[in-house]
Amino acid sequence: MFADKDISKFNNIETPFYYYDTELLQKTLRTCADAAAPFQFHVHYALKANFNSVLLEQIKTIGFGADCVSAGEVRRAVEVGFDHKKIVFAGVGKSDKEINEALDLDIFCFNVESIQELEVLNELAAAKGKIAQVAIRINPNVDAHTHHNITTGLDENKFGINSWDLPECADTLKASKNLKFIGIHFHIGSQITNLDVYKNLCVRVNEFSKWFEDKGFRIEVLNVGGGLGIDYYSPDNQIPDFDSYFKIFNEFLEVKAGQEVHFELGRALVGQSASLITRALYIKNGKKKNFVILDAGMTELMRPALYQAYHKIENLTRGNETTVKYDIVGPICESTDCFGKEVEQPESFRGDIFAIRSAGAYGEVMASKYNLRDAIRSVYSNEI
Ligand code: LLP
Repeated sequence: MFADKDISKFNNIETPFYYYDTELLQKTLRTCADAAAPFQFHVHYALKANFNSVLLEQIKTIGFGADCVSAGEVRRAVEVGFDHKKIVFAGVGKSDKEINEALDLDIFCFNVESIQELEVLNELAAAKGKIAQVAIRINPNVDAHTHHNITTGLDENKFGINSWDLPECADTLKASKNLKFIGIHFHIGSQITNLDVYKNLCVRVNEFSKWFEDKGFRIEVLNVGGGLGIDYYSPDNQIPDFDSYFKIFNEFLEVKAGQEVHFELGRALVGQSASLITRALYIKNGKKKNFVILDAGMTELMRPALYQAYHKIENLTRGNETTVKYDIVGPICESTDCFGKEVEQPESFRGDIFAIRSAGAYGEVMASKYNLRDAIRSVYSNEI
């Protein structure tokens, strides 16, 4: 059940909009920070999950760093006031312009994903007379057992440097006078719910860490990425199990004195804190199918169309009366513009308000202008 069942406050707000529960966000951030603290783990928030400045303000205040994948995200993190020394710039295709901008902002570290990128970064840093700190993103070939579109740590993926290229990578690092190697970086995928895969990741991190140390490199940072999933099926299960997650790394990762462990969590921090609030425009009862046609579509929340992702849908206007099976669709001229097929809902009517839950991560930020739709708006629980 939608935690906030008093929907009278939504009645006068034009739909669709993202509704952010800022208290829940605060609770989630606090739980994560408290779970990481005993191990002195460092959490960086992956802005790609949601770069909404209102959320970023809360995330910065809790003390997390920022994991960015474009100059735009780096700029946003700086504008919001994240400490430069807690900003990491990752991504498989950083342009020269983006690298230059990040060098000018003196960020903490570049997570580098190819040998060619090392060479370019070294050149650009030299031109500015700077030393760039780098962590090498290694593709560990660990299966994250998640949706194939969001797995990133297998040999067939484009991300990171493969193990067989590491000797050349080490030579390049040694020859690069304007780079300072500080550590290794991994990210095996997203929406990971089977925590055992992180044990496999730890084993690989330990192996690679030893490999670099044997080659004479000092590792200051072990960055194990993000990927912790959320419960899309039971969104009232609001806060991910950060305790169990961090305990795995504490138990299985070999951390030496002076080394820091960094995490890059996105979805787990913000995913449950928003719903897409939308209204039924029309109900179409057909012979074979019944449709609820909403005023939000794939342009506002793309995950179902793109990954066949499940989001729980709730009619907030009706109680548990007679139920009907509906295909719940948006207004866009695409057949994939569908939030759910054969979804059991109370009998629904034009004007009913629906919540599409667990939409805080990869929701608002992946919205598009397709069909020249109006930009999606955001509403915050502490403001209405
Ligand atoms: N670090 C790196 C290098 C990443 O590529 C990602 C996500 C993260 C951290 C954060 O992962 P998280 O903790 O949020 O799982 N749009 C897709 C998800 C794409 C994830 C991309 N990388 C979705 O809607 O499911």
